[in-house]
Amino acid sequence: MSVLKIEKVNKAFPGTLALNQVCCQFESGKVNALVGKNGSGKSTLVKIINGTQKPSEGRVLFNEKELTFSSPADAQSQGIATVYQELSLIPGLTVAENIRMGRFKMKGKLIDWKQTYAEAQEILSSMGITVNPRAQVSSLSMWQCQMVEIAKAMSSEPKVLLLDEPTSSLAQHETQILFELIQELKKRDVIIVYISHRLQELWEICDTCHVLRDGNYIGAIPDMKAAAHEELLHMMFGDTKVKKKPNDLMASDEVVLKVEKLTRKDTFQDVSFELKKGEVLGIAGMLGSGRTELLRAIFGSDMVDSGVVTVEGKQVAKASPEIMKNMGLAMTPEDRKFEGLNQVQSIQNNLCVASLKKLSGRFFMKRGKEEAAAAKQMEELQIKASGPEQSVMSLSGGNQQKVIVGNWLNTDPKIMLFDEPSRGIDVNAKQQIFEIIWKLSKKGVSSIVVSSELEELLEVCQRILIMRGGRITGEIMADQIQISQLYTTCMGGTIEV
Ligand SMILES: Nc1ncnc2c1ncn2[C@@H]1O[C@H](COP(=O)(O)OP(=O)(O)OP(=O)(O)O)[C@@H](O)[C@H]1O
Ligand SMILES: [Mg+2]
Repeated sequence: MSVLKIEKVNKAFPGTLALNQVCCQFESGKVNALVGKNGSGKSTLVKIINGTQKPSEGRVLFNEKELTFSSPADAQSQGIATVYQELSLIPGLTVAENIRMGRFKMKGKLIDWKQTYAEAQEILSSMGITVNPRAQVSSLSMWQCQMVEIAKAMSSEPKVLLLDEPTSSLAQHETQILFELIQELKKRDVIIVYISHRLQELWEICDTCHVLRDGNYIGAIPDMKAAAHEELLHMMFGDTKVKKKPNDLMASDEVVLKVEKLTRKDTFQDVSFELKKGEVLGIAGMLGSGRTELLRAIFGSDMVDSGVVTVEGKQVAKASPEIMKNMGLAMTPEDRKFEGLNQVQSIQNNLCVASLKKLSGRFFMKRGKEEAAAAKQMEELQIKASGPEQSVMSLSGGNQQKVIVGNWLNTDPKIMLFDEPSRGIDVNAKQQIFEIIWKLSKKGVSSIVVSSELEELLEVCQRILIMRGGRITGEIMADQIQISQLYTTCMGGTIEV
């Protein structure tokens, strides 16, 4: 039996302690589940085990020997394989090329293709995967890609196999095929660590379960078969209490945004809902549920195949970000580094991008207007900086997020779309962003908030739509539900409220 031991591992990010003195051990011959609510530190632990990130403190031991890697590739050659939810295959290459990438059989200076295909075929067959090694990856379905991904990981004959949400994009029967494969691997003295938010899966495939909460190791369930569902939920969420939101948020009956049967092929289907004036509406769902894609489509960043969006009674003919902006919408993107900000520009310039037209005269920029608009947002949003000329690159994550929000507030929007507004920012900045959203509500500006942190949605929103597999599957009022219930609903379970 092999043992992977995590010894007092700490990982600090600016403003967050992602892992706090974590000690635990994973053994071969069984499937070890690693669970915890969003942001609890699971992926961070995986990245520390596989050498993508270095721990701030502590060490990882394999059979009592400390593991140190110079790079993720080094970790891989030392037997640590990882399968992420986001696939890492190269679509333009064949299955065999992907599997043997970096480890091709050579014949002198040339790649021995015959041997490469034969080997890939052997790996696939030994795992019972019926995919042609000569097929282009781009021609495969999602789950076939996932299988090839695992075959690729297994072809290096790993000692440790880390699976970070491998089933989040798979359908039921595809998941079964994956499970059969994992059962096979269990017999091969491989340490398997399995991360999933689909709790019912854990009982089906895992033998033991380790729980993280807010970076702390809560404990293990040594025998899944003997554990009750409630016990696990309690370990995951504890007695987490959701903070109270102000009770004077606007609650109007006036509909400002109406979405009817919005569909984008393979992404989301038949999405219908209404947003009221001043309302703070959340969209909850797990990775891959289609939340971000829905928001992007409403804002006109992505095309839709069918459906109707109506803003303040006016039907949108052909959405584009420019048109939606003119209709009073604003959107802060999920990835603020690349989509939301011009990193080398000053705070002032970034605060005035979206409202350029409004702030400029017929021919020239009106410097004074621009300065005033920037100063107003810096003050209202309490952006911490030496002055408006400072580059946004040098700001903390929370202050960068406020610059993005401020940029849009300068356009006087009626509807704000927030995609993961608090990703990677500290608790304090998070609270400030919530306050901004509430302040907008009181002024009659509506918000839609997408977040993978369910606790955060319960805290900031009045009403929450549940999204699963590209569909809205339910709707709840935030003050009538517990976090563990919301979690269960997002995973497809039923709730009694
Ligand atoms: N590169 C980073 N920079 C700053 N903060 C980070 C970084 N990576 C992770 N974090 C933070 O560390 C914490 C743990 O994140 P992690 O991704 O490990 O959670 P997780 O348990 O995998 O969550 P999920 O279930 O949503 O995948 C979170 O608060 C996250 O915001
Ligand atoms: Mg994760």
